[in-house]
Formats: sequence, C-alpha cells, structure tokens
Amino acid sequence: MAHVLVIDDEPAIRLALRKFLKEQNYEVSIAANSDEAFKVLEGDIVDVALVDLVMPKMDGIEIINRMKRMQPDLIPIVITGFGTITSAVQAMKAGAFHYLTKPFDLDDVASVIKTALEHRGLKEENRILRDQLHKEYRFAKIVGKSEEMAAVFDLVEKVAATDSTVLLLGESGTGKELVARAVHYNSRRKDKPLVTVNCAAIPEELLESELFGHVKGAYTGAIATVPGRFDSADHGSIFLDEIGDMSFKLQVKLLRVLQEQSFEPVGSTKTHTVDVRIIAATNQDLDRAVKEKRFREDLYYRLNVIPIRIPPLRERTSDIPLLTDHFIRKFNEANGCGIEGVEKAAMRVLMTYRWPGNVRELENMIERSAVLKKQGLIETEDLPEKISGMRDGDSATVKTAKMDVPETGISLRKSVAEFETELILKALEKTGWNKNKAARLLKLNRTTLVEKIRKRNIEKLIRRTGHNVQGD
Ligand SMILES: Nc1ncnc2c1ncn2[C@@H]1O[C@H](COP(=O)(O)OP(=O)(O)OP(=O)(O)O)[C@@H](O)[C@H]1O
Ligand SMILES: [Mg+2]
Repeated sequence: MAHVLVIDDEPAIRLALRKFLKEQNYEVSIAANSDEAFKVLEGDIVDVALVDLVMPKMDGIEIINRMKRMQPDLIPIVITGFGTITSAVQAMKAGAFHYLTKPFDLDDVASVIKTALEHRGLKEENRILRDQLHKEYRFAKIVGKSEEMAAVFDLVEKVAATDSTVLLLGESGTGKELVARAVHYNSRRKDKPLVTVNCAAIPEELLESELFGHVKGAYTGAIATVPGRFDSADHGSIFLDEIGDMSFKLQVKLLRVLQEQSFEPVGSTKTHTVDVRIIAATNQDLDRAVKEKRFREDLYYRLNVIPIRIPPLRERTSDIPLLTDHFIRKFNEANGCGIEGVEKAAMRVLMTYRWPGNVRELENMIERSAVLKKQGLIETEDLPEKISGMRDGDSATVKTAKMDVPETGISLRKSVAEFETELILKALEKTGWNKNKAARLLKLNRTTLVEKIRKRNIEKLIRRTGHNVQGD
C-alpha cells in the first residue's frame, strides 16, 4: 500500500483528503506544518507527499527540498491557492511531480497520485533494466547471467587488467573466441591489435612462418620477406586458437616467446623481440594431451597461468532463454524477420536438450527457425527433430555403453525395472516433481507414467527425498 502524506495548515483540507485517500486504499498521514511533516518522514517511508505551498513556518519549496534530501524517492505534489501559479512552477523545478490548484477536484487528486506512482514504477524498472543490461553486456556481446558465466566475467575482468597469459578451456561453441576478445578489449592493450591465429586451420609447415614470419628465400616460394603474426600483434594481444593442435616443434618455439618474448623468423638469425599478451584456447583436454606426450608439459605450465573454463551450455541452462532472445533479435534484424519469441513448450524443449554444439548450435538453430518461420512464435514443431525429439523412434535414448552382463548372470527383469525407475526419477527431478512435465519428457502418456510410478512404488522413494509430486 502506497503511503501518502498530506501537509496543509487548513484542517478541513487535511481531513477531507485523509478520508478520501483512505477510501482509495492509500495509507495516509497528515501534518499541519513542516515540523510534523518531518517527524512523519523520520519514522516512515512516504511515497507521495501533497504539500501546500503556502505554509506558516516554512514555505512549500523549502519543505520539498528538505523532504527530497530525507527520502530521495519521495514524490512531492504541490497544492497551491489561486494566484500562486508562479511558485507552483518554482516547485516543479524543485522536483515536484505536479501541482493542483485550490479548490481541487478529489478525482484529480486521485489521478495525479496514480500517475505519479506509475511513473516512479517505470523509472525504477528502467533503472533495474539498465543495471542488468550493463552487467549482461558488460563484455560486448557475451550474453549470460548464470552464476557460471558471472564467474567467467569476474575472472575476465581480473585478468584483463594484467599482462598474464590466459588459457581458455571449453567445449566447441561455448564462446571461447568471444571471451578472448573480451580479455583483449578490457585490457590496456585495447587500442592495439588483437591478432587471431587458428592453429588447427593452418597446415603445420605454414604455421611457423605465419606466426613468426620468414625472410626471402627461406624456403621455395618465399619470394619476399614477410613479418609474422607475432610482429603484427606487438603491443597488442595474440589469440592462439586450438593450441592443442600445434606441433611439438612449434610448441618449443612458442615456449621461448612465452619466456623471453623473442623469436627468429623462418630462415633468419635475427631475433625479434615483441611485447605481446598471449591468449590461448583449446577444446582439448590438455592434461591428457600432456600425459600422452602430445603436448609439452613445460609449455602447458606456462600457458596455464590463468585458466578460464567456460562451462558447456547444458550446465548453465538459465542462460538459454536469454541467449535465445539475443539470437532472435539478431536474426530478425539481419533477415528482416518478425519472430516474436519461443512458445512455452518449445522453450522447455530447448532447456532440456543437451546442446553438444553449445551456444553455436543454439545460434544456428535459431537462425534456421527464423528463416523458415519468419513470423510469430517458434513452436516445438519448428525445432529440428534432433532437438524436439518429435518423431517417435527418433528421439534420444540413454546410452547403455557401460552395461555389462557379469559371468555370474543378471536378472534382466529386475535390471530393466531399476533402469526404468531411475529414468522416471531423473525426469521427475528435472521437472520439479511435476508428473505432467515428466511424462512429456519421457514421451509417455501421463496415465502410463502414473501407472508406472504406482507400480514401482516411486512415490515412496520420492517422499523419502522430501518432495511432493504435482500434476494430479
Ligand atoms: N555467451 C554468448 N553470448 C552470445 N553469443 C555467444 C555466446 N557464446 C557463444 N556465442 C556465439 O556462439 C558462436 C560460437 O562461439 P565461439 O566461436 O566464441 O565459440 P568457441 O568456443 O570459440 O568454439 P570453437 O571451439 O568451436 O572454436 C559464436 O557465433 C558466438 O558469437
Ligand atoms: Mg573458437
């Protein structure tokens, strides 16, 4: 309930307003002078103050100023007698939201208060949105507000301020390149180049000369002296993507750059010294690569000073709606489409799909849907079968790779039952113990699921976990 304070030295007006505003469901306080008004403000939050401009002790404008200092969110509305319009204007300048001239109509009072409160609500909403936007888009186009991404943002912010080598780890499509850019563009090197080299895309023989340059005649076809990417990145950053694919020989040369910031171009004995921040990325398990002697241990330690692990999309499903929105907007704009969003059931599908291709897969899927659908809401039918699992027999099944039949034999019936129970519990858990939703996930009729739950005594298992199953 909004709290309105009426400040007027005329008792009749105070009382009439109090009665009327109470009927309008406001909490009302009254004050006959400034002292009484400030006393109310000391004890209680006031949303709207109706202030008579001409008061005995202190004039209305002064009261407004002091009230705003006490409670900056308070909305003053001025009441003036006939002939004091100029001071009403002055009051507006002092921050009054509106003014009413005596004698006023009570309905006008109600409508001004209502507008004022709505206005403040919008302002507050805008402020919250702005804060959110600021946080979400703090790093250019990286969308995400999950705890996992917040941790990534925090780390990026911290390392960006240093010259440390950064190693970005994460599955394909998780946004490693975006994060690499964020590191560079949030660093003091932001006005210098960010040079990107995809170590997997360039044949091994060429990669060395690409990175370090070569002199004329260094090898057949080297018709000119060409600087390397490390030279181009001087004072800036170099992003070495897919570093796990770099050959052993080049790893040695890179290690030296990391240690001494210097190298020799191919075919040259002249040492180049550079000042380059190295950002490396890989979707490989470098620990394992080291154990398997595919990656030099010393280089790994040099690179792994500050690892930033970008979690797969399935581990931060709360970002899915936000990313979906972001991509819909992007593709609407690019293709002149009018996609309005994703229908509820389809969003549920997006939230439960495993996204092996991570954000890139989501982005591609939205692009495809936007192009095909053009208008309106994206529905489950519009999603690729792989994601919606709509065509029966085509839907996902659980991998049974780890299963084995021991020499001593196994009860098929019991194993299958256990397996079924397990899946049902997982589905219930995933849907917040909602039978309707769980049935949909398992592509069962609700009645079939209910029957199975009863038959397998699952309700009892659940009660032990302290949950309630809904959807009856
Ligand atoms: N958090 C995010 N917000 C917005 N777009 C994102 C986000 N994460 C990834 N993307 C988009 O998804 C696509 C894949 O991201 P990116 O190329 O950075 O992934 P990657 O980890 O480098 O993948 P790969 O290992 O396959 O090279 C890009 O188009 C990128 O713009
Ligand atoms: Mg990449």
